[in-house]
Amino acid sequence: MKQIHSFPDLTGPLATASAYANNYRCNKTNLHPTATLAQLRNAFGGDLPAKGQAGEEVIADLIRAAEPGLVGNTQPGFHAWVMGSSHPTGVAADWLTSVWGQNAGIFQCSPAAATAEEVACGWVLDILDLPREASVGITTGATMSGFIGLAAARDEVLRRAGYDVAETGLQYAPPVTVFVSEETHVSNLAALRYLGFGNQNVVEIGTDDQGRMMPEDMAHRMAQVGGPKIMIATAGHINSGAFDDFRALADLADRHNAWLHVDAAFGLWARANVTTRSLTNGIDRADSWSTDGHKWLQTPFDAGFAIVRDKDAHRRAMDISASYLSDAPGDGRNATHYNPELSRRARGFAVWATLKTLGRDGIANMVRNHCDCASLLAEKLNRIPGITVLNDVVLNQLVLSFAPNRNGGADDMALKMEQAMNADGRHFFRCANWQGQRVLRVSIISHETGPQHIQLLARKFQRIWAEVSH
Ligand SMILES: Cc1ncc(COP(=O)(O)O)c(C=O)c1O
Repeated sequence: MKQIHSFPDLTGPLATASAYANNYRCNKTNLHPTATLAQLRNAFGGDLPAKGQAGEEVIADLIRAAEPGLVGNTQPGFHAWVMGSSHPTGVAADWLTSVWGQNAGIFQCSPAAATAEEVACGWVLDILDLPREASVGITTGATMSGFIGLAAARDEVLRRAGYDVAETGLQYAPPVTVFVSEETHVSNLAALRYLGFGNQNVVEIGTDDQGRMMPEDMAHRMAQVGGPKIMIATAGHINSGAFDDFRALADLADRHNAWLHVDAAFGLWARANVTTRSLTNGIDRADSWSTDGHKWLQTPFDAGFAIVRDKDAHRRAMDISASYLSDAPGDGRNATHYNPELSRRARGFAVWATLKTLGRDGIANMVRNHCDCASLLAEKLNRIPGITVLNDVVLNQLVLSFAPNRNGGADDMALKMEQAMNADGRHFFRCANWQGQRVLRVSIISHETGPQHIQLLARKFQRIWAEVSH
């Protein structure tokens, strides 16, 4: 019989990718890209070929072109930014997500994707011990999760003021004031901009030496402003890892009928581990939370969670509906109720698989291990004259400064240390400016990082600092 359908054969390209994958993960010892931009453009470049090429050849070409430009953030020596290491089980689930090619927009496009998402979202609420009645959107990351939480916040505080944003838009709405930390993560300011807020709607609250908002300043500023109010707090400061005082902020939110959103991109996971849970005390009194899967949970990129206590407010802010997309009786979750996307990747599979492979204890142990590693490193570095750990190491973050000497000032020393620590390719660090000085940031977040790495790292700091400060 004549064959009508020709099925593309996946085995060639997938076998090439699979044979390479393990080797890459096990043998990536230089964490830094080795190619220049020009070399990468050249490797990827050329005219689009008129004729296509066999899949396995294309994948082999992709590996050759990409590898010199890859960053080793899946490796234990990566400390530059808060990025997880894409757990192998999540990666495998992610491959299947692409093989299955599902569109996770609505239930009817993929009942399996919708149900995996529904279960994974329930597990996330459970392990983070947030109100079980909250609704959860699986997003591309904490930036988009913050956008969703703040969209729900904006619409709800205006609704309480008798104003329906969906009906009349923002043009004639009363001004909403948003209270943020002067050190709030930039993604929150971006989200506010997307939502129609400008600098004049934002009041910055002063911070202490750890970057925590000062509740007295918040109380003072809130008392000066009338009208609808939103507050943005932080669980896990990008540099210091510090947590705001959620109990005090939630009291103020209650007093002013304000919406409290918490940017908890990585800090929310402290709640999963008994020894760090108290850092999050009072966080469950917030109205919305944004967090990531691709940071501490180690899912592959991209995955984040937008969690909103009032599921009706969440849905009102995000809903996309049309007759051709309508639910049938008995349908399950429609992701279009929670995300600003229609067609979307079935991110729930990788989230479900990562949660299941780590399990409740695995997640708690990983968080505890990273925090213990951070404390151990702080203890060792504090013993090296000339190196100062500036922050209280409460989580997985260290902020380091270096004493000025005849080779340069403290800012120069931080840069020199960054260069020297990165020089052998085995570690990846980056500087930042924090509270008026250049500092070296250390994030301990890769799944594999353990005390054995920290012992070696502390010795390397000692040796490199002796060289740099000599
Ligand atoms: C505190 C905080 N908020 C928000 C974000 C943004 O997260 P994402 O990059 O997943 O959008 C980050 C990223 O590092 C962060 O640390």
